[in-house]
Amino acid sequence: MPSAGPVPRRLVVLGCAGLWLAAAPALAQSAPGGIVAGDAARGEEMFRRCAACHTLEENGRNKAGPRLFALFGRRAGTVADFKYSPALRDSTLVWTPQTVDALFAQGPDRVVPGSKMPLQTMGDPKDRADLIAFLQRATGK
Ligand code: HEC
Repeated sequence: MPSAGPVPRRLVVLGCAGLWLAAAPALAQSAPGGIVAGDAARGEEMFRRCAACHTLEENGRNKAGPRLFALFGRRAGTVADFKYSPALRDSTLVWTPQTVDALFAQGPDRVVPGSKMPLQTMGDPKDRADLIAFLQRATGK
């Protein structure tokens, strides 16, 4: 008997998945040269689901998650007044577009095993590119 087919790719576990799926047809426009180009405006919409736990401003407060201001280029787990899990605090990861992409391509549980960041993945590279484009703009130093 053949083994079961490929495991369906886990989509978004956290709420709001429906919102993302509903938005999908609107972003069918392709990026030049096949490169996945980030659309910050769409990324801003997507960030709504992060905003429950994260602020973006320099003096933004920590919520359930740390403030993301000046995210890119900083070491993971280094917002001074946030109580991280040991896994993230002791991680040597540096946040770059690539590592943030990996965080949501693979999920926090894979990228930083033991992280208390809720399990959520984004299967579509375009979704991740848009979110990252927005984060780069909104957390800029
Ligand atoms: C339910 C709350 C929650 C949601 C929603 C959430 N996060 Fe987080 N996030 C956390 C927590 C908690 C941590 C810290 C985890 C730890 O200490 O292990 C974290 C950590 C992070 C980090 C690492 C920060 C650092 O200083 O190292 C990034 C980047 C991040 N989240 C991005 C996002 C993005 C982007 C989204 C939306 C797609 C999101 N998070 C949604 C709770 C959340």
